Amino acid sequence: MRRKSLTQFLVEQQREHESLPGQLRLLLEVVARACKRIGYTVNQAGTDGLLGDEGAINVQGEAQKRLDVMANEMLLEANEWGGHLAAMASEEMDTIHPVPNRYPMGEYLMMFDPIDGSSNVDVALSVGTIFSVVEAPADISGRTPTEADFLMPGRRQVAAGYALYGPQTLLVLSVGTGVYEFSLDRTMGAWELTGENLRIPKGKREFAINMSNRRHWSEPVRSYIDDCMAGKDGPLGHDYGMRWTGSMVADIHRILKRGGVFMYPWDSRNPNAAGKLRLLYEANPMGFLIEQAGGLAYEENHTILDIQPQALHQRVGVTMGDRDEVERILGYFEA
Ligand code: AHG
Ligand code: MN
Ligand code: MN
Ligand code: MN
Repeated sequence: MRRKSLTQFLVEQQREHESLPGQLRLLLEVVARACKRIGYTVNQAGTDGLLGDEGAINVQGEAQKRLDVMANEMLLEANEWGGHLAAMASEEMDTIHPVPNRYPMGEYLMMFDPIDGSSNVDVALSVGTIFSVVEAPADISGRTPTEADFLMPGRRQVAAGYALYGPQTLLVLSVGTGVYEFSLDRTMGAWELTGENLRIPKGKREFAINMSNRRHWSEPVRSYIDDCMAGKDGPLGHDYGMRWTGSMVADIHRILKRGGVFMYPWDSRNPNAAGKLRLLYEANPMGFLIEQAGGLAYEENHTILDIQPQALHQRVGVTMGDRDEVERILGYFEA
């Protein structure tokens, strides 16, 4: 049976839910097309000589990969002419990118991580792209957008998603009506609906965390992970598995499909910058998807989506995934 295309899915969502206005539908189609182009570029990077470092340090203090910069350009280029966005922000750009004056301004703002898991790109492991969409402040058309316009809690997102460039090339997104997965059919270059209303499977005892940071964690995190490591004879009475892929997109996709919990918690190396992951274009969009799929997304004992951002590249501690497992972890913070 023919699978639904992304376009058919979005047209039907628009018909059923007024929460999908035409401009947002166009934005999602444009982002999907840009992610397809990024996916092809990532897959061809070895033969096309596009691996390796750009030779620049980004605002995060990270060495940029060439693909970080190329994917960022592809997303800017794809989205600035359409009239659906007022401005964009990215992990790879110091400050915001208002839509150039030669194009009409739209009513949305988009934040993105063009290549998530960059350290994987030179060793042929999965990477992704993450995007988050909010409605711009009503008065934005009469002025130049500012960083402050982007500083909204993640609860205000109207759409979020990721592309995963792995053994399959996938697009997973939500417009607030559940989580939907599309697979790229390379013969036609078309995104086809392969997963509807994804729900995090319960009961998978598997955690994703970078264990090498253990000495830097807070006591509650250390004791939870130690209890997981103690297995079925320990306080949690279960053996736990562990996975860590180096790409949040890949880890979160696995959690959406087979359960478990993902953690990149606060660590003492940089006490003011809670954790490594960025709130606006990693934790918020992924937290939106996790909640839409029945899970929980917390920083220590408060929900990520309700954090009021203070800065564009603000970092946050992250615990998200299976509802029961996150609640179990919350118990360690209350103990
Ligand atoms: P990015 O490549 O966009 O900078 O993000 C990498 C993030 C996230 O994707 C991943 O879960 C985490 O960094 C891995 O961190 P470690 O290398 O410290 O394990
Ligand atoms: Mn990075
Ligand atoms: Mn990232
Ligand atoms: Mn990145």
